[in-house]
Amino acid sequence: MKVGIIGSGGREHSICVSLNKSPDIKKIYCFPGNAGTSYLAENVSLNIENFEELKNFITSNKIDLMIVGPEKPLVDGIVDFFEKNNIKVFGPNKVASQLEGSKIFTKELCKKYKIPTAKFGIFKNIKETEEFIKETDYPIVIKADGLASGKGVYICNNKSDAELATKEIFNGKFGVAKNLLIEEFLKGEEMSYFIITDGLTIQNFETAQDHKRVLEGDFGKNTGGMGAYSPSRLINKELENKIIKKIINPTIKGLKDIGTNYKGFLYVGLMIIKDEPFLIEYNVRMGDPECQTILPKLKTDLLQILLACCNQTLNKIKLEWKKEKSLCIVLCSKGYPDEYERNVLIENLDKIQSNVNEYCFHAGTTKKENKIYASGGRVLNFVCLSENFLDARKKVINSINSLGWNKGFYRKDIGHKVINE
Ligand code: AMP
Ligand code: GLY
Repeated sequence: MKVGIIGSGGREHSICVSLNKSPDIKKIYCFPGNAGTSYLAENVSLNIENFEELKNFITSNKIDLMIVGPEKPLVDGIVDFFEKNNIKVFGPNKVASQLEGSKIFTKELCKKYKIPTAKFGIFKNIKETEEFIKETDYPIVIKADGLASGKGVYICNNKSDAELATKEIFNGKFGVAKNLLIEEFLKGEEMSYFIITDGLTIQNFETAQDHKRVLEGDFGKNTGGMGAYSPSRLINKELENKIIKKIINPTIKGLKDIGTNYKGFLYVGLMIIKDEPFLIEYNVRMGDPECQTILPKLKTDLLQILLACCNQTLNKIKLEWKKEKSLCIVLCSKGYPDEYERNVLIENLDKIQSNVNEYCFHAGTTKKENKIYASGGRVLNFVCLSENFLDARKKVINSINSLGWNKGFYRKDIGHKVINE
């Protein structure tokens, strides 16, 4: 079987590595992929925003299944386009992808189906927000409605923070803003719960916790993710039942009520307060770096899972997982998430020992004449599975040190809440 993966990050490299284990895989194409995927797949440098060009390549190369990694093409309707052109595709359609594409869509769904979430208001202009932020208690959270690559969320501790946030959003920092969202600040512990669904059957796809802030101790600017661990320390059967009953089931029903169904991975971002789950956000894809952290634990053939999802036979699949804990550290370019140098040579990648249960996924890398260069802020993702998180972290740090790349940096405290030293 020939499979195509859309995306170029660590998430897509880890999907590529997992798929490659399936005996039914004949060839993998990555659109456009990275240096890591080039060892297992054919990297195809097409513009992934040009669906027509993608379609022509897919049909002329007879690709049997397409998998969409990032949110942007999903929100832009790539699944609807592929299905209309008889291309088998794994991922949610355009209407369902609004769960990530519009925070206001999701909040209104929460309100209608009584899904627990932060209290919120929708504001149409600066005049409306000014009146509110003068009176309210702080902290509050101000959010741009649409996709903002994880950057459209402001935690505001006072009136001047709130004034800056509303100004930046309404001035178009994240695209034209017809309105914005102001939420109550929820104080608890975050957790990410993943599901896979074919629209009929829902199965849990593990839990994780990521570290979004750039500095140790969870301080500093927000990033795309500095590391993650799986499982979350918070999950237990009782909490899981609440997440499914109070949050996931009503969401899937809400989508059915507007005439659509959800097919694909769904990332449920939660705040857990006194053993009660509150929805913070949905992402209509796997997380990055959570995907790299979770997939190495999967024992079941990933290709069969994704095909079952497309064919609506997910009820026939039994997901099996390794018992080990998994921890991932992201090696970044110095300067990230602000300015950083691009096209920096990374030597010694071949010297990293490839032990069982240890992985090095590529994220922002490119290959030129057999040399590998860092081309993005988040460069490599080191993952280790072990009996405990402390041992996993030690092994990951050893691997990063054995690379000795002096243009990079990483957080040494990933998993600090689950590791007692
Ligand atoms: P989002 O993009 O909506 O996930 O927001 C990014 C991050 O902002 C989340 O992972 C939380 O850490 C934080 N956040 C978002 N909404 C809230 C909220 N209502 N209360 C507290 N923290 C929040
Ligand atoms: N790790 C956060 C995300 O994928 O959105």
